[in-house]
Amino acid sequence: KTINVILSGGVGSRLWPLSRKSRPKQYLPIFDGQTLFQNTILRNRELCDSVMVVGNQENYQLSRNDLEEVGIKDYVEIIEACPRNTAAAIAFAALAANPEDILFVTPSDHLIESDGAYEQSVERGLELAKEGYIVTFGLQPTKPETGFGYIESDGENVKGFREKPNLDTAEKFLKRGNFLWNSGMFCFQAGVFLSELAHYQPDVLLHSKNTLESHENGFLDQKLSMEIPSISVDYAVMERTQKIKVVPSSFVWSDMGSFESIYEYLENNGQKRDENGNMVIGSDIHTEFAGLKNTILIQTKDAILVLQKEKAQEVKKVYERLKAEK
Ligand code: GDD
Ligand code: MG
Repeated sequence: KTINVILSGGVGSRLWPLSRKSRPKQYLPIFDGQTLFQNTILRNRELCDSVMVVGNQENYQLSRNDLEEVGIKDYVEIIEACPRNTAAAIAFAALAANPEDILFVTPSDHLIESDGAYEQSVERGLELAKEGYIVTFGLQPTKPETGFGYIESDGENVKGFREKPNLDTAEKFLKRGNFLWNSGMFCFQAGVFLSELAHYQPDVLLHSKNTLESHENGFLDQKLSMEIPSISVDYAVMERTQKIKVVPSSFVWSDMGSFESIYEYLENNGQKRDENGNMVIGSDIHTEFAGLKNTILIQTKDAILVLQKEKAQEVKKVYERLKAEK
């Protein structure tokens, strides 16, 4: 059985004020009236047999609504008491499945075009997973982005995986040419993932198991969860496992991780910007920019953010400061 495991635990702090704690970005109906969460479910519907959502106490109602709206009634829910990062979130899913089940793990907040290339890549990934590999999906990098993982590839073979390199290193990777961006989606047999986790990060496995075993109707215990080391699957497993493969892919993908990536996406899809590269997001009020370059103005009902495009990563700091002031 193939299960689409949807990770829906992040807050999307780099997209404030579009993305809020009460409504993280995957639940905003920004694309043709559908949310990124719903897009994810629908995109994978034909490729997988069932759905498992790993979310949290703050957003499981939003997930339920989204699922109901697209007519999915049968799914498994794992509801975290607090985010313990992706190694744990995926461990919960793998422990809740049968060891031979194939998990296709996907973020819930990426924008992907199902244009045939996507389906082809996933199908190849599922084949490799059946053979016992831990499969990543690699995309051609276009800039030395430091927020991604990099896969050094030789066809489907992986020579190395490096999570979030610094700028110097990312630039070197781009020059060397055989590095791909990690898309953040993975597939593998549940049992294969758990044995790799047991090998490389046994503390995460142990505490994830303790936490999951005492769940009540899918709700995980806060105190037990806090024992789980918070580490992402990229560092915990992908950088270390020898069973890794990559499907070099060419589907249209944006991780929607920052306003810079949204800007680029909108730009490529016909949204207007002025001749100095300034753009308005989320407002139809007539706006002019004077003396500014590459500025993004983001407006919602109760907040405005004015942002220099190249500084899109700074929004996280704004979010953190506002959170601290509360
Ligand atoms: N359930 C749950 N619990 N989900 C989580 C948690 C958690 O504690 N933490 C993160 N997630 C979800 C996020 O909502 C997102 O959908 C996905 O897991 C990945 O987490 P991010 O925090 O967005 O990771 P990242 O963007 O820094 O890096 C990953 O994605 C990049 C591509 O977008 C890595 O896999 C990189 O290597 C990759 O390039
Ligand atoms: Mg991300």
